[in-house]
Amino acid sequence: MDSTQICLAQRPVGEPDASTFTTHIQPLPDLQDGQVALAIRYLSLDPYMRGRLSAAKSYADPVEIGAVMVGGTVGEVVESRFEGLAPGDVVLSYSGWQSAAIAEGSQVRKLDPSLAPVTTALGVLGMPGFTAYAGLLEIGRPQEGETVVVAAATGPVGSAVGQIARIKGARAVGIAGGPDKVRALTEQFGFDAAVDHRAPDFVDQLKAATPDGIDVYFENVGGHVFDGVRRQLNNRARMPVCGLVANYNLTSQPVGPDQLAGFLGQVLTKSLTVRGFIQDEFTRSHGRDFVRDMGAWLADGRVRYLEDIVEGLENAPAAFAGMLRGDNFGKLVIKV
Ligand SMILES: NC(=O)c1ccc[n+]([C@@H]2O[C@H](COP(=O)([O-])OP(=O)(O)OC[C@H]3O[C@@H](n4cnc5c(N)ncnc54)[C@H](OP(=O)(O)O)[C@@H]3O)[C@@H](O)[C@H]2O)c1
Repeated sequence: MDSTQICLAQRPVGEPDASTFTTHIQPLPDLQDGQVALAIRYLSLDPYMRGRLSAAKSYADPVEIGAVMVGGTVGEVVESRFEGLAPGDVVLSYSGWQSAAIAEGSQVRKLDPSLAPVTTALGVLGMPGFTAYAGLLEIGRPQEGETVVVAAATGPVGSAVGQIARIKGARAVGIAGGPDKVRALTEQFGFDAAVDHRAPDFVDQLKAATPDGIDVYFENVGGHVFDGVRRQLNNRARMPVCGLVANYNLTSQPVGPDQLAGFLGQVLTKSLTVRGFIQDEFTRSHGRDFVRDMGAWLADGRVRYLEDIVEGLENAPAAFAGMLRGDNFGKLVIKV
């Protein structure tokens, strides 16, 4: 079997573009005992992949030049030398940006397509949904009647944060880019209020939407959104720092006054909790509860999700670059 593979051609400076990636067609090696051959059906595109394009030291190794881009995938078993998996089974694997792959049978998870659409294993029932669940409940700890604010709020992490906050009795305020996304927050996801960070009066809109201040700010973006939010934080507010997507393509420090001293002053005088996390630190402590709770919330309609499915592996590079600008509307998935 041949695999069409999208590989890293060179490390981007700023936004990734057409020169960042290159495509090869590669025959797969022979199948060994314990392995399965997969036809990849869906590829997840996620903001963390921007970090893998950079050689800067981080919590995970960079993708090497010439290597297949990494990523979560849903694939169909076409040949198996692993007991317990047979052709036709659908599995979650980490096979990257390619059309076919060999995987260790022990490293993939069989999915049940009758329980939920298999793409949800890449979104609301997968890593992004888990990130929202663990980060909000363990660090944010929303209490009944409190106000929870999250940006990138129509994305898989943000939409789950807002909906879980409401399930816990908090008031959810979402921040998103543009009127269509803002409308979806209240109409489709049930947020109590929604604010457009692209609007010139963003900060005024945010103040109006948070009359009692902010008790939990789930930080997904940084940048000008953080500047607006931080002035509204209440005493003893919690801030799970999940992502800073506004910074991922920066090539130099943002211009403007240094706000660090002012923010640290707030951390001190308002007794703020600011805690960064990478989701897998919570797998052991929250993994089972997540599967139970999110499965139930999805089944009874208390949690909804939105997917943005782009057809064709060849469109992954452009879709990925677009996501970092906010072009995606919901969980971005490539239908390979
Ligand atoms: N810590 C962890 O373990 C972990 C795990 C998963 C994800 N994350 C992080 O969680 C965040 C959300 O991930 P996701 O998968 O749900 O992504 P996503 O929301 O589907 O996509 C990113 C969104 O970020 C928003 N954005 C981009 N540039 C922005 C800017 N300058 N200012 C404000 N918003 C901007 C855009 O939405 P708008 O158009 O609405 O602005 C864009 O759609 C990311 O920062 C990601 O890195 C962290």
